[in-house]
Amino acid sequence: MQVTSSLLLASLLLLLLLPSIEMKRPGKGRGLREARHKLTRDRMRGVGRHSRSGPSRLVAPDCSELTESGDVFLDCQGRRLTSIPTSQTWSAQPKHLLLARNRLKVLREDAFSGFERLTSLDLQQNLIFLVEEGAFQGLTRLTTLLLQHNRLGTLSEEALIPMPNLRHLRLYDNPWNCLCPMDSLIRTLQVPSNRNLGNYARCAGPTRLKSMKLKQIDPKLLCKETDLTGDQQGDQTDPVDPVDHVEPIPFRSKPDATTSCHTYLFPQIRMDCRNRGLTEVPTGIPEDVVHIDLSHNSIRHLKARNFHGARGLRTLNISHNNMEHIDTASLSGLLHLRELDLSNNSLHFVKYGVLEDLYFLSQLKLGGNPWVCDYSIHYMVYWLRLHPGVRHSGLLCRSPPEHTGESVAQYVHSYNRECPKDRQHSRTDQDQTDPELWNTAMEVQGELEEELEPSHLRAPQKYQIIRLS
Ligand SMILES: *[C@@H]1O[C@H](CO)[C@@H](O)[C@H](O)[C@H]1NC(C)=O
Ligand SMILES: *[C@@H]1O[C@H](CO)[C@@H](O)[C@H](O)[C@H]1NC(C)=O
Repeated sequence: MQVTSSLLLASLLLLLLLPSIEMKRPGKGRGLREARHKLTRDRMRGVGRHSRSGPSRLVAPDCSELTESGDVFLDCQGRRLTSIPTSQTWSAQPKHLLLARNRLKVLREDAFSGFERLTSLDLQQNLIFLVEEGAFQGLTRLTTLLLQHNRLGTLSEEALIPMPNLRHLRLYDNPWNCLCPMDSLIRTLQVPSNRNLGNYARCAGPTRLKSMKLKQIDPKLLCKETDLTGDQQGDQTDPVDPVDHVEPIPFRSKPDATTSCHTYLFPQIRMDCRNRGLTEVPTGIPEDVVHIDLSHNSIRHLKARNFHGARGLRTLNISHNNMEHIDTASLSGLLHLRELDLSNNSLHFVKYGVLEDLYFLSQLKLGGNPWVCDYSIHYMVYWLRLHPGVRHSGLLCRSPPEHTGESVAQYVHSYNRECPKDRQHSRTDQDQTDPELWNTAMEVQGELEEELEPSHLRAPQKYQIIRLS
């Protein structure tokens, strides 16, 4: 039934689309430009084509095509696909093919014919248990191949030979069965210049090699006598069922970004680390990451160098954690950060200096934090005042009670307007309870105004609230 109705639907679509396809043909360049502008709207229904299998093969991948910085992406993620979409239904040969989160099981010979321009191929989170030797035939330009989170028990080095430019190969979270057939692959991965091929991948079997990294295993251990002679002993009694789910490898003390997060290339490199039970920022965040979502974890503390190296980061989402502290240098170097989401944490204030490198920030989410309206919060307000281009939200005093619900900016404003002498009297008791804090905050404010305020804003009143005498 379903097949019939989708056939019908496809033919209808074909009829509807035909005129527009015909009209688009001559103006190929324009079509491309349109795609560039419309981005995701340009949905290409796979209407089939006259392929090598003869009559038009009906595929309805409903992939979307988009152009980002001149590169054509074909986004077929999460569409329950059981086969590779046919090529040539796209306006231009894609450079990036995104097939993550589908139901592919087998990659047949020449599976990607028609996709010879690909430089990246994302096949993560499928059910792939078999890659035929010629599956990647023709992908001579491919530099990145993502096969993590699949069900591969074995892979021959032969399968990689058609891809001389491969630089990044992800194989982790597959139930690798580290036996003789893996010998050539493992030796290839271990060649020192293949530094980004197969990192993190571990053997799921045989028992004697379980959990060992493919990168580190001694290849001599793979082809033991028993395996070679093929007698049904030893390892053969402990086969790894390729369709079994792999137990995730439990995090050791330090979670690693590549294994604890999902990485997507679409349309820029993005790491999804939501809800991974992280108690700290994972290490090894790759340098080329553009977006990181660390929301819904239990991170309490951002530390210096947590994002060291991730210099191209544009969005950072740390909302819905338990963050109490942000060390001064934890966001340093993030010169290109545009969006920072700190909402729904346990922050009382943001330390002086934390935001200093965020020259291009345009959005800052701060809601759902128990901001304390005392001196420590002034930095935040001054910084925002000096960066009027930053849209921010949620900066409300939670305490002390007299300021609860008030906006922090309002609090600082009224604080500054009050006559310093009066304040000195009215707040004497409070100040004396924590002179240390008072002094520090005063210094901070002085420093801030000196360092940050453009000279024309510096007025004699700068020192109006210094009253330490
Ligand atoms: C950050 O993550 C939360 C929860 O996952 C989401 O609601 C929010 O929109 C995200 N923030 C940004 C700036 O994308
Ligand atoms: C914080 O998150 C909780 C749970 O998702 C939600 O109930 C609450 O409304 C959030 N608060 C804010 C200010 O976003």
